[in-house]
Amino acid sequence: MPDRKDPLNNSFDSMRLIPSGGALGAEISGIDLSLPLSDDIKDGIRKALLDHCVLFFRGQELSDENQVQFTSYFGKPVQHVRKQRERRVKEIFIISNLTQNGEPIGALGNDEISFHSDLSYMPKPGTISALYAVEIPEVGGATQWCNCQAAYEALAPSMKGRLQGLRAVHRHYVEEQNPTYLVDHPVVIRHPESGKKSLYVGPHLTKHIVGMSPEDSEELLGELFAHQTKPEFLWTHQWQVGDLVMWDNRPTMHRREPFPATERRIMKRTQVFNDEVPVDG
Ligand code: SIN
Repeated sequence: MPDRKDPLNNSFDSMRLIPSGGALGAEISGIDLSLPLSDDIKDGIRKALLDHCVLFFRGQELSDENQVQFTSYFGKPVQHVRKQRERRVKEIFIISNLTQNGEPIGALGNDEISFHSDLSYMPKPGTISALYAVEIPEVGGATQWCNCQAAYEALAPSMKGRLQGLRAVHRHYVEEQNPTYLVDHPVVIRHPESGKKSLYVGPHLTKHIVGMSPEDSEELLGELFAHQTKPEFLWTHQWQVGDLVMWDNRPTMHRREPFPATERRIMKRTQVFNDEVPVDG
């Protein structure tokens, strides 16, 4: 169980924001997410998310209902497109390497998952995701984010010009998770609230650039992937049990480090759907 020394009273004044010191990410302390949040706290969290792209809250004790309720402050929580076992709260998606009676209890196993933006293979991808740590491995299994706004900003003007108007196809490797048609999105998107531009490609789900030869597409995507994953654009979250991490998928990509198959990892994910098509940058 998370180590909580003092009860939290959820006043706006008790809320503290501590930037991670990395390319993105900040901790918010002094808030108990299982309790109702006032409008000024919700607004504070929304603003912090816009500024820092990833937020984490330590030491939370959340029921599935608490997590869905918290997620609902940022849009409509939806069931994940990937089918999972029958469960009480359908908006909770289990990420785990564990099995029960020979069946996986959740998705994603223990291997590395390379950089991606959640659900980018859908015509209207996820906007905000939240992940709650129930059990974590002794080694590995950290999650790393990259700041795709900073990566876009750092591109040479000639490359920014070259990317203008380009679109890329995104597809999931589990074929039945995809729509029946190919989905493409702009390579550079604009955040609907901040107006900032970011790269919207990643090695896990972006397949090729529309209208380019396979060789040219591979070369350009390779160059962009190498650029956006430079250390100066990254920040890694080392999980503790009871952490709730939320992130905006539009200005970020994330990857999960591998961990030994013999270790246990159980995370609960919720997803916001805002009926939003990525906006051309
Ligand atoms: C994901 O890629 O959404 C999963 C991240 C994680 O398990 O840390």
